[in-house]
Amino acid sequence: MTAVDDLPLLDLSPADERDGSVASRVARASVEHGPVVHVRVPSGLLAGRCACLAGRDALEFAYGEGRDVLSSALGWRPLIGRRFGSAVLNSDEPAHRRERRAWAPGFATVALERAAPAIDTIAVHHVDRWMAMRSVDAYAIARDFAFHVAATVAAGLPDDSRIGELGRLFAQALAPPAVDHDVAAHHVEVRPLRDAIERTLAAHVAALSGSGLEPGIPALLLRNEPSIDRAKLLEHLNILLVAGHETTATLLAWALLRIASQPRWRTRLGREAAAFPASGTATLEALGRLREHDAFLAEVGRLHPPVVHAPRVATRDFDYAGVRINAGTTVALGIGATHLLAAHYADPGRFLPERFLGEDCGRGTTAGDALFTFGRGARLCLGMRFAQITMKLALVRLLRRAPPRTPAPGQCVHAGFWNARPHGALAITLAPLA
Ligand code: HEM
Repeated sequence: MTAVDDLPLLDLSPADERDGSVASRVARASVEHGPVVHVRVPSGLLAGRCACLAGRDALEFAYGEGRDVLSSALGWRPLIGRRFGSAVLNSDEPAHRRERRAWAPGFATVALERAAPAIDTIAVHHVDRWMAMRSVDAYAIARDFAFHVAATVAAGLPDDSRIGELGRLFAQALAPPAVDHDVAAHHVEVRPLRDAIERTLAAHVAALSGSGLEPGIPALLLRNEPSIDRAKLLEHLNILLVAGHETTATLLAWALLRIASQPRWRTRLGREAAAFPASGTATLEALGRLREHDAFLAEVGRLHPPVVHAPRVATRDFDYAGVRINAGTTVALGIGATHLLAAHYADPGRFLPERFLGEDCGRGTTAGDALFTFGRGARLCLGMRFAQITMKLALVRLLRRAPPRTPAPGQCVHAGFWNARPHGALAITLAPLA
């Protein structure tokens, strides 16, 4: 049995994190040395050595039988910060199962059918604003929109002028420290931001009455468990907002950039968008017919997964593929690297949404088999369908009025080892249709 420390070290640099090459470097190392890659993460809140698992089998293990020895709580908490508390995403069994079950009705088909027209209205409103600007920062607009949807539709916060400010506070509070910046100093600096967030959200939680009419997951939790502690409810709300907007913003920003630079797909998606029902009438049935959008977003998520590595910590010693991973080791589930393996995807570096329209991806499997953009199994993203609806409505409403064009060259959304985030503006222009 080989120890992780005895494997060759993939010593990543801040430059690798900045230029988005982390996933491809891990993928190459896994082809050379096997599915466990010994990596040094150069910067950020979870910097240091870790064991990275790459490849479909390794991730199926981590999301399946290996789940019991891999703590999501210990993995996610340093990244999100203890201050936000824990719920579903960053909790372990048995709390995780209980919390996941409590949230689930909020993302069931009936709830999503109700949510779709509300998300549609927000999409139309934001597209109006983007049109007035013409040249936009794709990440800034995607983030603003995704936060508005998550905060009002998923979390049930009042849709008023405070939402924009709250979104900005979250953006600053969740921004990773600069490469050379001291992590302890970073925690001190974000404290006032987290205080401000907490004041706003605690006031919302205190105002919930548990009546049947209030929208959103926190109200649902209170209705089903009237004795739930308000401090715990605040933790649920925090994690819902963290999980519910950052990732959607990143994937949507990449989608906008890809549409801007791929005329052929701009035309294909534009045609599908033109046949979509008018504003405010979105149904799940009509959204389900957007097959080209689905394939396009799946390919964007394959090449640019917002969660590049899902963080875990081993709670017991265990062996995988001949490698001994000791308790306490940080383990990274290599989602980005797995998506780039030729063993799973023919010509993996090419942007080819068509691979998600056919049954076979050229490896005797369907393209979705090795796709982990939204995790898998008992940890599959609870908000996956919600996010897909949100992104499709933003694209449809924009494409019907002003398809994105001409991105500035060389822009990159991916930065960072764990979560992808752009480190600068992503300029695109919008070209209004006649
Ligand atoms: C494009 C958008 C999104 C992407 C790419 C994404 C991705 C992911 C991934 C990879 C995981 C698994 C994390 C892990 O293994 O540790 C996850 C979990 C989760 N996501 Fe998402 N997510 C998105 C949007 C959302 C939204 C909109 C919500 C809620 C409104 C949400 C709520 C959650 C929750 C609660 C979990 C934890 C599930 C569990 O551990 O049982 N996500 N997401």
